[in-house]
Amino acid sequence: MEIGIDIEEIERIKKACKKWSNRFLNKIYSKREVEYCFKKSNPYESLAGRFCAKEAVIKVFEGKIFFSDIEIINKENGKPEVYINNKKADGIKLSISHTKRYATAVALKE
Ligand SMILES: CC(C)(COP(=O)(O)OP(=O)(O)OC[C@H]1O[C@@H](n2cnc3c(N)ncnc32)[C@H](O)[C@@H]1OP(=O)(O)O)[C@@H](O)C(=O)NCCC(=O)NCCS
Repeated sequence: MEIGIDIEEIERIKKACKKWSNRFLNKIYSKREVEYCFKKSNPYESLAGRFCAKEAVIKVFEGKIFFSDIEIINKENGKPEVYINNKKADGIKLSISHTKRYATAVALKE
């Protein structure tokens, strides 16, 4: 069993989005993830949550995968699930949380 965790200031992710615009979004997130986040009243909370989720997943893989290999898709009830290279990673469990200032995520690999 492996565990990974990350925490980010939402302002940092917002600044990266404003500074690098599509370059940052396309490097880190899938089109589907960007669409999901920009439907929210504060997209940066969800973008930062996803950033943390991907960092946490990268930790459980000991750095052997990159942001763009990972996609976080929320089920109908909102629960986030992990996809690696377009395949659902059933062995990885993920939890995301965010406040106005911080986002965090924990990933577990069975
Ligand atoms: C899901 C719930 C725990 C979120 O808690 P919260 O304090 O409002 O928000 P947090 O910042 O801690 O967490 C938000 C993240 O939780 C995750 N989440 C949402 N629904 C979830 C669920 N059913 N199970 C697990 N994680 C969930 C999402 O990743 C979300 O972030 P994202 O939309 O940016 O990806 C809360 O809304 C709740 O208890 N809901 C009732 C239970 C339920 O299943 N509702 C489904 C509604 S159809």
